[in-house]
This record gives sequence, structure tokens and C-alpha cells, in this order.
Amino acid sequence: MEIRIYKDYEILSQSTADEIIETVKKNPTATLCLASGDTPRLAYSMTAKAALANSIDFSRCTFVALDEWMGIAPDNEGSCQYFLRHYLFDHLDIPESNLHFFNALSSDARDECKKMNDAIQQKGGIDLMIVGIGMNGHVGFNEPGQSFQQYAHVVDLDETSKVVGQKYFRETTQLSKGLTLGLQHMLEAKKVLLIASGLKKAGIIKKTIEDEVGPNIPATSIRTHINGYVMLDEDAASHLAGRSDR
Ligand code: PGA
Repeated sequence: MEIRIYKDYEILSQSTADEIIETVKKNPTATLCLASGDTPRLAYSMTAKAALANSIDFSRCTFVALDEWMGIAPDNEGSCQYFLRHYLFDHLDIPESNLHFFNALSSDARDECKKMNDAIQQKGGIDLMIVGIGMNGHVGFNEPGQSFQQYAHVVDLDETSKVVGQKYFRETTQLSKGLTLGLQHMLEAKKVLLIASGLKKAGIIKKTIEDEVGPNIPATSIRTHINGYVMLDEDAASHLAGRSDR
């Protein structure tokens, strides 16, 4: 694992977009797993802009969504699916069959997980995975206490995720469960970028980098990944040892 620190959110986002573009240029049939959330929003807009400006062909890539709120319809602006379509996929020419989302309205959530696992396996794994980090150290909806060895699964959301998650919705929304890829997917991905921005993430980033690796902070799992990068802006990095006195 390597830590990369960027001056601000904009430069962090540009570097993340560059990683996506480079991955697709090098391997036009790559499989990418993308998180939704406030952190990657600008990176996806920049990716869409660069793809259009430079005629980069995304049509043979496969995209897998990292997670979804159970019971939330895909046309709800707070859903992960809506987010990824709105900021990225709607701007690129990608066949629908190459986009994989959890169907959060399915009556058979386990089958949804199996479908995601199968889709990833059929593609020979994930080439590039972009994840954020929750205020509680979650990655996707791998909440504190969960094993690192899981693939896609259904989760009872942590209280922090239920409260923080309200920011994505126009109205107060009942959130209780999530569908998520597992940390094992992340550990098997060929390259992983964990991105974090802002002072509000500085505390959990410090724990992620400096505390013991283990399920209490799911994001610590990236420290065992040989091609894992924790990409931070200065604010998110500001509590790390050696930087807090700057
Ligand atoms: P955020 O979410 O990018 O909106 O901060 C990150 C997460 O909860 O994983």
C-alpha cells in the first residue's frame, strides 16, 4: 500500500480521473468497480469530460457498482445507481449489458449478490477499484466488525452509515440494510484506490493508516494490498503522524 497526498480536492479528483482514463486506454475491456459518494463525484465528472474530449472508448469496459441501499429504487437520487449513471455512465457510450448494479428492490438479495460475484468472476476479477471511506471506516458497506474474507453480501447498516447516509437523500429516508461487494473483492482487485478528502475524514484516515489492521476499521484491509493506494488531499492527510504539526 502506498499513500499519495494531493494539494486539494480538485487535484485529487484529477489524479483519480487520470487513473480511470489510463486504465481504459491500456485495457479497453477492463473491469472497473466504482464507489458512489461525495468524494468521487468530481473525479467522475472529470472522467466523463476527458473521455468525450479525447474520444476514449469505454464501450467495451465492464462496470460494477460497489454497493447499494437496500429497498431504494434506482430512480431515487440518493441511490448509488442513480449517482453513477448521472455523473458518469449517462455521458459515456456503454452498453447496458456492461453495467452491473445491485437490484435493491429484489426480493432475493442473496441472488443479487451471487449475480454480482458471478459477473466479476466471469470477467476474471476487477482491474481497477475505486472506493471511498466512511466516517466509521467502512468501505462500500463493509461495516466495522465484518470479516475481510467476504464477497458480495447483505449488511445490517451501522448507525453511523444510517445517519451519515441521509446526506444523499432529499427527504429523511429509512435506511437499514445494504448490498455490497466484499473486502475480498477489494483484496483480489488488481489495483485499488481509496480516496478521501476534507478535514472531516482526517481522524478516520489516521486510524486507517496508524491503527492495527483488523475488522474494527474495515479500510485497514487496504494496507495488505500490494497495489493499493490511499489517495488523500492535504486536509484528509492532516492528522497523519508527521503531518499534524504543519
Ligand atoms: P462520501 O462517502 O464519499 O460521501 O464521504 C464515503 C463512504 O461512505 O464510503
